[in-house]
Amino acid sequence: MPFFERFRENWVRPALFFGNNPTSLAGGAITSASGITMISYWLIGLFGRPNDNPYLGIIFFLILPALFIFGLALIPIGVFLRYKALRKTGKIPLAFPKIDLNDRIFRHGLDIVLVATIVNLLVVATASYHGAAYMDSPQFCGQSCHVMHPEYTAYKISAHSHVACVECHIGSGARSYFEAKVNGTKQLIEVTSHPMAHIAPHIIPDYPTPIPSPVMNLRPAREICEACHTPAKFVGEKLIIKSGFADDAANTETQTVVLLHLGGLDGLSHLTGIHGAHLGHIEYIAADSTRATIPWVQRTNPDGSTSTYVASALKGVMPRGERRMMDCIDCHNRAAHTFVTAEEAINQAMADGAISPSLPWVHKEGLTLLKANYTSQAEAAQKIPADLEAFYRSSNQAVWAAKATLVQAAGAELVTLYSQNVFPDMKVTWGTHPNHIGHTSDPGCFRCHDGDHVAKDGTSITQDCAACHNLLAVEEAKPKVLADIGIQ
Ligand code: HEC
Ligand code: HEC
Ligand code: HEC
Ligand code: HEC
Ligand code: HEC
Repeated sequence: MPFFERFRENWVRPALFFGNNPTSLAGGAITSASGITMISYWLIGLFGRPNDNPYLGIIFFLILPALFIFGLALIPIGVFLRYKALRKTGKIPLAFPKIDLNDRIFRHGLDIVLVATIVNLLVVATASYHGAAYMDSPQFCGQSCHVMHPEYTAYKISAHSHVACVECHIGSGARSYFEAKVNGTKQLIEVTSHPMAHIAPHIIPDYPTPIPSPVMNLRPAREICEACHTPAKFVGEKLIIKSGFADDAANTETQTVVLLHLGGLDGLSHLTGIHGAHLGHIEYIAADSTRATIPWVQRTNPDGSTSTYVASALKGVMPRGERRMMDCIDCHNRAAHTFVTAEEAINQAMADGAISPSLPWVHKEGLTLLKANYTSQAEAAQKIPADLEAFYRSSNQAVWAAKATLVQAAGAELVTLYSQNVFPDMKVTWGTHPNHIGHTSDPGCFRCHDGDHVAKDGTSITQDCAACHNLLAVEEAKPKVLADIGIQ
């Protein structure tokens, strides 16, 4: 018997016979329905109109493909069940209903089965490709999972809003992909069981609020940041200007001007400044999981010798914990997810004019409203503007009469600032995720540069203000230096 003949006799005929059962038919229907829906969605996608809605994504890239495969699986299951049932009752025919290839309808039926199988394979392949790509998209990571809401919100307004989450959080290669999916599945279980978790807190899995940092399985900075930033690039000096406003009726403005010695690798291949001083030759051991307390620091000197600096609190005992080579993330820990302090937020908004400094007391009042307790972002969005309005209506009627629109704009801006930084449902509030880049709102650099980390020869890690920056003006009204360089 030729191959095709045999195939038809031994496989196609029995399959058609056994396949004629409700389960397999339902499977076929589910598969074709979801297949057709997916194909039409992809076709629409081909002609543009990208859709950012994460829930549509979940339907089209995860649920429909799952239904499609579920339907496919039902077909052999139905066949198997019918086979078993018939065998039990001894009703399996000796010869299956004849395939009459002269019967045109039947011949076409076979063609359809063949074509459908090929199409199914193509659909499964495309669906898994789309599904995998979708699970790598910032929409999936950040939006469809409200647990990530704080990080996603901060990410969207960061310099890295066009760098996909997976670029930094998941390495290349099958292993890190697998690890990430295992982690993701664990998180998915935690999210799903969250509503029940309060019933049996230690048994039912729940996600942590807030999500803790540092992220222990973050890709090494060498692989992520340095894929785009050349660490040795010589940045030189960087001028930083910050405005501050006082808690008085006039919201008196002052400015701080700092010239940071950022450095890098200079033209003579010398490592200089802040970047040059650390990269590649400073190791440390932190005493806590958040890396906030760093009692042991070691520097490898250019001649290969080492200098070890220990905090006095350590009293000669070597701390336990991970020994870590300092990299970008030890300073730029909030590169993609910067949360600011309430003071920084309102000062910046007032400097930009989004909150008008011409409104008396707006700095003091705005700060109080930002720092008040609200049960949710929705409550804050409702109360902050209402309370600000009430403040001017009751105590500053003249201002309200003349500047109602500015008051309303200020209220709206305060709501924006709040919702970019405070997430009551995730227990993320002002200061929950500190930024290590400076030393004013968080110890940051002063985790090591506090004058208390001393080497055997008596030298300590420098706390000299001038080692890091020239303070050109500190909280001055109209600093002369800004006028000199034509900025004011
Ligand atoms: C440019 C790199 C980068 C990108 C892009 C990025 N992250 Fe992060 N992410 C980080 C770093 C760095 C940390 C802090 C790590 C640390 O302190 O150890 C972090 C921390 C986190 C944390 C832990 C909680 C926290 O706030 O510290 C979560 C959750 C997170 N990121 C989610 C996301 C999501 C979701 C996206 C995409 C929408 C994303 N990240 C994109 C670099 C990145
Ligand atoms: C895929 C490329 C890419 C990766 C990966 C990346 N960056 Fe960036 N980064 C950029 C670009 C592009 C800019 C400039 C964006 C702009 O000016 O709007 C930037 C800006 C910055 C800035 C200056 C702006 C700011 O936010 O203060 C810092 C600092 C920075 N990156 C640090 C990092 C660190 C640390 C990492 C690793 C955790 C990292 N970057 C990973 C592309 C990248
Ligand atoms: C010892 C702390 C420290 C380390 C380590 C560090 N940086 Fe920085 N970096 C800084 C500071 C401080 C600034 C200036 C901050 C500011 O602009 O507010 C800065 C600024 C930058 C900028 C912005 C430069 C500009 O022209 O505005 C980039 C980009 C950057 N760093 C990338 C990196 C990368 C990539 C790494 C890792 C290879 C790294 N940094 C490691 C402290 C550090
Ligand atoms: C993990 C500990 C640690 C942290 C955190 C750290 N440094 Fe350092 N830094 C060192 C050590 C150790 C040295 C070398 C000893 C020295 O020069 O005093 C050093 C040296 C420097 C130098 C060179 C000083 C000189 O006189 O040549 C500068 C500048 C500097 N750090 C700036 C910073 C800044 C800015 C930050 C925060 C953004 C920071 N460091 C955070 C450990 C640290
Ligand atoms: C180890 C390095 C380092 C040392 C030492 C240091 N600073 Fe700074 N300082 C920084 C960095 C980095 C920033 C910029 C932070 C940023 O980008 O927002 C900064 C910013 C500041 C600012 C600006 C305020 C602000 O809101 O950011 C002031 C004021 C300041 N430093 C004062 C001092 C004084 C006074 C000393 C000496 C007692 C000192 N610093 C020592 C690293 C250092």
